[in-house]
Amino acid sequence: MTETPLSSDFALSVLDSIQDTAVVIDREGVIVLANEPWRAFAESNSDADCQVQVGATTGVGSSYFREMRPEAGDLTGAGDAFAGVRQVLAGATERFELEYPCHGPTERRWFRMSAVPVAGEPGYVLIRHTNVSTLRYAKEELVRAKEAAERGNLVKSRFLAAMSHELRTPLNAILGFSETMMLGAFGPIGDPRYVDHARIIHDSGQHLLAVLNDVLDMAKIEAGKIDVHKAELRLAPLLKTCVDSMRCDAEARGLSFTIDADPALTCHADARLFKQVALNLISNAIKFSPKGGTITVEGRAAEDGSVSASFCDQGPGIHPDQIDTVFREFEQTDLGREAGGAGLGLPISANIARLHGGALTVQNRVSGGLRATITLPPAQDAKSRANSRTASAR
Ligand SMILES: Nc1ncnc2c1ncn2[C@@H]1O[C@H](COP(=O)(O)OP(=O)(O)O)[C@@H](O)[C@H]1O
Ligand SMILES: [Mg+2]
Repeated sequence: MTETPLSSDFALSVLDSIQDTAVVIDREGVIVLANEPWRAFAESNSDADCQVQVGATTGVGSSYFREMRPEAGDLTGAGDAFAGVRQVLAGATERFELEYPCHGPTERRWFRMSAVPVAGEPGYVLIRHTNVSTLRYAKEELVRAKEAAERGNLVKSRFLAAMSHELRTPLNAILGFSETMMLGAFGPIGDPRYVDHARIIHDSGQHLLAVLNDVLDMAKIEAGKIDVHKAELRLAPLLKTCVDSMRCDAEARGLSFTIDADPALTCHADARLFKQVALNLISNAIKFSPKGGTITVEGRAAEDGSVSASFCDQGPGIHPDQIDTVFREFEQTDLGREAGGAGLGLPISANIARLHGGALTVQNRVSGGLRATITLPPAQDAKSRANSRTASAR
């Protein structure tokens, strides 16, 4: 055995006290110190299917490189280990690490090997093999869980897309025929109560269609199947179109609109998707406004060139604890559940905003009511994102 200050009882007792298997080798690769765990491991694992293995000897006095048994496993692992340790011996690197499998007869194991120069003892290298199996199992479990969740999500999205498609087809008949009955298109239907029933069938069918469309949209977004075709749009007329299409609903509840947007203001967005967000936010504002209230729609440009559209109502707003949760699918406040809807408008709108590289925020106004704002990035940012076919909004 090579005489060195390292071979003192002191050094050995320090090495023995660690749980990892550890050896110190000299410039020639000869083992000058091997701790107790190393010896125990070598003895108990002579049959292990190991990429980087020590032989069934204490090892002291023999070459570290011969102690490895490349024939027991994948040569690449052992070859890499040799090369790495030699680099540390040659002073070419300060540290070498390698993770490798070393499966026993009954358990799957992984080790992380590390080689570092011994401080204050030039020419000596400390090599440790740490059992990292627990960490590895945890990582594998995490990957498996993530894959299962992704598979589940995909199945869910496909199922929802197929279901909403299947349900929409019979709805066409329900909506169409209840309308002809309501209007008495082929002559009167006798008792006027039937007309009332036809109207209820029609209204319920329309509500169901709106929910199905939301579910289908959400499924499409989750499956990355929404194409975003951006163009330069004038914001004020766009907002006016959206407001006009909701005016009937609003007036039925005694609500009025104020639109405040510079006519010259433009934004870079997909017109259809932008309208979908605006209609969602306006329908929320209508739903939660007190009778006779005013809904204010604002278009603004910020100094950084981003453009935003805000929809403000005078309703109860959202409790601060629930401001984040309402962005999750199917989440509603008690009031929201009472008011109807599926709880998909905000998550869909937030996803559409993200697909544009922007964001959707809601905040309670100091004067009361809620302000929901979609912000779109500056046009040059949007252009550099190249008329994106964005794969995922999550
Ligand atoms: N303008 C608003 N004022 C008060 N609460 C709102 C407003 N907009 C949204 N919310 C709350 O957020 C929930 C989720 O909204 P949304 O995703 O559009 O679903 P839905 O309108 O179908 O309920 C609503 O149910 C409601 O609880
Ligand atoms: Mg809504």
